[in-house]
Amino acid sequence: MNLKTAVTKHKVIDLIKDRWSPRSFSDKAISDDDLNTLFEAASWAFSSSNGQPWEYVYAHREDVNAFHNLHSCLMTGNQPWTKNAAVLMVILVRPKFENGKENKAAKHDVGAANATLALQATSMGISCHPMIGFDPEKTIKTLAINTEEMEPLVFMALGYLDAPEKLEEPFKTRELATRTRKPLSDFTKRLQ
Ligand SMILES: Cc1cc2nc3c(=O)[nH]c(=O)nc-3n(C[C@H](O)[C@H](O)[C@H](O)COP(=O)(O)O)c2cc1C
Repeated sequence: MNLKTAVTKHKVIDLIKDRWSPRSFSDKAISDDDLNTLFEAASWAFSSSNGQPWEYVYAHREDVNAFHNLHSCLMTGNQPWTKNAAVLMVILVRPKFENGKENKAAKHDVGAANATLALQATSMGISCHPMIGFDPEKTIKTLAINTEEMEPLVFMALGYLDAPEKLEEPFKTRELATRTRKPLSDFTKRLQ
């Protein structure tokens, strides 16, 4: 159990309860082997027609130029704390199937892959923080993304957790805030 482990009414498994999105990352690098484990986990997510409409474009912090290129595409609210991430990635979505037909489930499926990746990461002591706060146009230009094929959907910072005290405000307060969720009655409806 960590500080941010979800407190649940029902018997939710620990892996789900222990996943959360931190901002304080330690110096420790993520090995390529561990990163490939995360990508392989993502690939085992379900997807419509097994289309697997995702691509992970990433940089380790030690690859300074590549890391900087990704980091510069983030909005200012995400830049201060992500500079310490071990890995930054942008996840691209492929909106069409190979036969050119629209994949109406594409974004759903990328979310499923990212959630699967995050749970695998949690089991390995690696934290993930997804981010929609990025500049899409800058990302497309910086990474020379062919938008006929792929679109940037979301960024993710990954790393090993460090102390909340390492963060400046307002991030430190957010790091220490209690995690909350809507009650089940707000989002479930039994039909009889
Ligand atoms: C698609 C998506 C986009 C997000 N974008 C941001 C973001 O730009 N900046 C940020 O600090 N957190 C971002 N988050 C993190 C959420 O705020 C966080 O997941 C939510 O508050 C629930 O907290 P938890 O992940 O710790 O359970 C994003 C999460 C998701 C899934």
